[in-house]
Amino acid sequence: MTQTDQIIRGRLLSFHRAPEGPEDHAAYTYLEDGALRLSDGRITACGDWDQVRAEAPALPVTDHRPHLILPGFIDTHIHFPQIEMIASWGAQLLDWLNGYTFPAELRYGDPDHAAAMASEFYDLILSHGTTTAVAFCSVHPASAEAYFAEAERRGMRMLGGKVMMDRNAPEGLRDTAQSGYDESRALIERWDGRGRAGYVISPRFALTSTPEQLEAAGALAAEHPGCPIQTHLSENLDEIAATRALFPEAPDYLGVYEAHGLVRQNTLLGHAIHLEPREIDLLAERGATPVFCPTSNLFLGSGLFDDAGLRARGITPGVATDVGAGTSYSMLTTLAEAYKVLQLRGQKLHPLAAFDWITRGNAEVLGLSDRIGTLAPGTEADLVVLDSHATPALALRSARATSLSEELFALQILGDDRAVAEVYVAGVAQKGGIARRRGTVAEGPAARDPALVP
Ligand code: GUN
Ligand code: ZN
Repeated sequence: MTQTDQIIRGRLLSFHRAPEGPEDHAAYTYLEDGALRLSDGRITACGDWDQVRAEAPALPVTDHRPHLILPGFIDTHIHFPQIEMIASWGAQLLDWLNGYTFPAELRYGDPDHAAAMASEFYDLILSHGTTTAVAFCSVHPASAEAYFAEAERRGMRMLGGKVMMDRNAPEGLRDTAQSGYDESRALIERWDGRGRAGYVISPRFALTSTPEQLEAAGALAAEHPGCPIQTHLSENLDEIAATRALFPEAPDYLGVYEAHGLVRQNTLLGHAIHLEPREIDLLAERGATPVFCPTSNLFLGSGLFDDAGLRARGITPGVATDVGAGTSYSMLTTLAEAYKVLQLRGQKLHPLAAFDWITRGNAEVLGLSDRIGTLAPGTEADLVVLDSHATPALALRSARATSLSEELFALQILGDDRAVAEVYVAGVAQKGGIARRRGTVAEGPAARDPALVP
């Protein structure tokens, strides 16, 4: 028996596929008195409490009832070096990058600063229930090193890469076509597939890369077909105009990436708001993934993502925070803003679809749904425990909920890190460690704390 051999008891919710509508109850499993058996960081059984307990009568039990237990949340687009400049006032994309973002990212060339911020970053995302994220690091290899090293220390499944950017950025924040290639390749060799790490080839966006650098990124991608590619696409109208001016020979914005071998099945394209018909055709044909970042799109005034329009073309978007243009680390808050953006589009985001999206759906987007994103036996024990009575507002609303969907919708609209009662990484509970590091050690036995039964 290892440290993580245990049973976790609570109300279990796990999706098998994307719900096709509010009444699609076959898309998920919900167990009112459920239990997970965990061993060596994995889920080894998932079922009713009576049955799981009968098969393992000696294992220690953590009882999270009446809370919900779901797979840990997955954030498919976030910027690690932007945690100190989130909530910067008054600008749209290009001014925001030049005025706030680039100066903040300059500091990540310092390995000590990068290491200290990596610890803050993981405490932040974990306390919001996110157990896997796909991050852009800064241009400095030291930032990616700190990012992966801290994830490894915590046993987290994390993806990311150093951004490649060789123009239209200040001194100290530019690599070159050659050094961006060399440094990315060295990071792939060091980190990709090591433990739970996955490297993502990360040309920042068309405006900050020369054609030579995009060519080098494409070469790297061709040499590493298993590595996802991440970048930004058609977020802001001024950005699109500047891109068209810089690449006049390209048919459109996505055509710039296409010309360099960067549009393929495992390409993640942040934002993808203002798309031309040809770009949508190409996304559909290649199976590339647009990533919806609602809090960011509202904060920067970028525009309204067309989720239903893309899905009608057979495209399955991811959903993400995009901190620090995004304004919350919480995937619950992200779903609340997604709901509102889609309302402005005349589209509906049902809570079943929403919770599938931030768990199994985002795992599918990353090609990882056999490892994370569900509670299926054999998958990794990354879990979030949600308290739908965590705040007075939530408690009042949830007390009147008459269905699981209503309770989930209350969490979607009113929830944030306060609703995260616990989070597990590879079977290990995290909140105590975060509280100790922050010097806010949890108070004495509260009524809602899990009871440890021998
Ligand atoms: N486009 C290029 N870089 C960035 C970034 O850091 N944030 C956002 N929102 N868009 C970008
Ligand atoms: Zn971004």
